[in-house]
This record gives sequence, structure tokens and C-alpha cells, in this order.
Amino acid sequence: MTQHDPATLYAAHLATLSQRAEQALARGGFDHLVVPSGRLHYQVFDDRDYPYAVNPQFKAWLPLTRVPDSWLVFTPGKRPQVIFHQPFDYWHVVPDAPSGWWVEHFDIHIIRTPQEALALLPGNRARCAVLGEPQSTLGDWVPNNPAPVLDYLDYHRAFKTPYEIALMRQAQVLGVRGHRAAEAAFRNGADEFTIHMAYCQAVGQDATELPYGNIVALNEHAAVLHYTELGRRAPQPLRSFLIDAGASAHGYASDITRTYAAAGHDEFAAMIEAVDQAQQKMCAAVRAGFDYRQLHIDAHLSLMGVLKDFGVIKVSPQTALETGVSAAFFPHGIGHSIGLQVHDVAGFAASDAGGRIERPAGHPYLRLTRPLERDMVVTIEPGVYFIDMLLDEVKKAGHGDAIAWDRVDFFRPYGGIRIEDEVLCTDGEADNLTRPVFAAAAANA
Ligand code: GLY
Ligand code: MN
Ligand code: MN
Repeated sequence: MTQHDPATLYAAHLATLSQRAEQALARGGFDHLVVPSGRLHYQVFDDRDYPYAVNPQFKAWLPLTRVPDSWLVFTPGKRPQVIFHQPFDYWHVVPDAPSGWWVEHFDIHIIRTPQEALALLPGNRARCAVLGEPQSTLGDWVPNNPAPVLDYLDYHRAFKTPYEIALMRQAQVLGVRGHRAAEAAFRNGADEFTIHMAYCQAVGQDATELPYGNIVALNEHAAVLHYTELGRRAPQPLRSFLIDAGASAHGYASDITRTYAAAGHDEFAAMIEAVDQAQQKMCAAVRAGFDYRQLHIDAHLSLMGVLKDFGVIKVSPQTALETGVSAAFFPHGIGHSIGLQVHDVAGFAASDAGGRIERPAGHPYLRLTRPLERDMVVTIEPGVYFIDMLLDEVKKAGHGDAIAWDRVDFFRPYGGIRIEDEVLCTDGEADNLTRPVFAAAAANA
């Protein structure tokens, strides 16, 4: 299984990052890349820290998500350096001594206070590209985030190395474990909070470690796109369950959504099945050279085909698209790039030297406009929802006749449907990272 073993893939990953960093530095006219891991942030007028979120530019190099006040230093032609903060501290658990597959590739300097980094950072500060947030400032080391350097690195980060894909596969395995536990809790009649806890327990990650806040939505709550309330009481009767939840593997995210109907709600179950079939076709369309914006438009047409079949709309999918009816039922983008960040960077980048590819007019929430290329990982997450606020807009715009309102009344109590997988783009067939993991888990149950 070396193909999927991050330890054996890491050296090549580091070589790729080094090449990219060398190019990025050349673009910006710098000699050194300096990346702070980030600092703890404190709540206002309080000594409580927020959950620590590592600088993504740091975790791109190192599978370290919990070492604040550390630094990466890369100089072309030299071994990369890690300044590793391991304080003497009896109040908190300090990071373990450096270990793991990355250690042999770096010169590692242990520091006991953040200030000790000052003596170890490169001599000529003006020659450094320092990538980080303002709070990472240390003495005169203020992150300067040069645009040519960031543009280059962020653009290329869309192309995942085999090491990254291996970790993203791990994040799928963890996420699917959680999804199965969550479905079982739903089938047992659990409330949203209890389902969330079952998810966390199965994944082995809590809210501070998961890549984003779990969306656990029963019944009408599924119509709130980012519903993160976690109700403490299960509604009666239970009709539907939408869960959008991922997991982290050494800083790499999964982002998975499934929707279920409660027993006896056969028509809604059939609509879920239809969306699921449509989603699988969209996933299969992911391949190098395909325009993701077109995939988004095609998704509108396909989803409106489902709503037409279920008697919810009375016009053709094309008319629904042109009149804004489809945007009322599918009011978000088809997906996004994913990796170190759930919504990964540079989704609109026209090139590695800047520029922007705009969204198609009328689609303000699409997060990725770049053409698909080999080694990108994207989500495919079509959805249909019954959201009165948006459907009222359709009425106001004079297109109320396009909708069968009795059918909206029928489906409104279910909230909505979203199905979301991660798909690796190749030169050939799409590689769905999510589905085989669900299938294997079901086969082993
Ligand atoms: N979970 C957020 C998203 O699907 O983009
Ligand atoms: Mn999601
Ligand atoms: Mn997503």
C-alpha cells in the first residue's frame, strides 16, 4: 500500500514544494521563504484562547497542526529548517518532540520561548518573503505576504501531490466513519446534538479539530444552508436528515454531505435517490480540461430536471435556469477546491501570476471558476432546498406560475437535499474519493 502511505510519499511532496517555493521566491525577488505557524489568539478582555488554527502555508510543508510560535524557513539549495517551539510549560501539554516521517528532511531547532526564534531566522530580513497573519509578528519580523509569492504558491496548491491525496483519502475514511455513526443515530431518533456527538466520537475529533462546523439538520433545518445550531430535542415526527461534515488528516480536510429520509417518507426518499443519481453523473464529468463553470450550469439543468420529474416546477429546466427559478432551489455553487482548507485558495486564479476568472453572471456563490486540471481535488455538492425567502423572490419577479406551490408545500417540511463528494481530477476518468469509502464501509459492516 505504499501508493497510499504518506510516509513514503513525503520526500517527493517536499521536493515539489521546494520547486514551487523556489519559483515563487524568484517571482517576488526574494531569497528566503519564512512561514510562521501562527499564534494563539485571545478572547477580548479575557485570558481564554480561541482554538488554534495553524497557518495553512505552514501545514503545507509539515504535518504539524498544533505547534504555535514555530517557523519554517526555506532557502533554495539548502535543507529546509524548522524552528520548533516546545516551551517549558506545566500549565499546558507541550508539543511532543519532533517525530514522524518529516523529521529526517529538516534541520530542526528547538526553542523554548517564541523570542528565541529571532536568533535563528535568516540574517537579511529584507530578502525574506514572510507569509502569515499580522499576529505572527515577532520583533521586526512582520509578515509581508508578497503578492507574487502568494499568487504562485496558492495557484499551484490546487494541484495535489500524491502525499496530499493519500492524506485526503485518510480524511475520507475518518469522515465516512462519522457519517455512518450519524446515520445510525438518526435512525435511532436522536436529536441534532446527540447525532453530532456520535459523529465526533466515531471520527475521534471534536469541534476544534474538525475542518469546519458540522451541519446536522433535521427536517426543515436542512433548508438552512449553513445550519450549525445543534438542537437538543428531536422534532416529532422526524422526516429527514441532512449532514454536512468532514474530518481532518494531518491538516487535510474532507467535506462530505448526505441526506436521508425517515422510514415511510418514500417520495422524499425517491427525490434523494434522483439527486444522488444526478450527483454521480456530475462527479463523472470531472476531468482535465472541463470547465467547472459549465459543470455548475449543467448541475442547474440536471437538478431542475429532477424537480420537473417530481412536479415541483412546471417549466423546462432551461426556462427555470433563465428566469432565476433554478437559483431559488439551488442557491449555492456546485463546489470548490479542497485540501489544506475546506474552501481551498485560488479558486478564481487566472494564472500563477495573478488575474481572476469571474463567475458566470447570476451565480454569485460559485467558489471555483478555474478549468479543471489533473491533480485538482474538488467537491461536487448539488442541492435542492425549499426556502421560502428565495421562493418569494421568484413570485415577486413574476415567475410564480413556474412553480407548483402545492408540491413546495409537500416538500417544505423536509428542508432540502444535498449530496457532496470529493473528486480527484485525472486525465481520464474521475476518481471519486468518497464513494468507494462508503461502499467499503458498508461491505465490511
Ligand atoms: N461544508 C461547507 C461546504 O460544503 O462547502
Ligand atoms: Mn460540505
Ligand atoms: Mn463543500
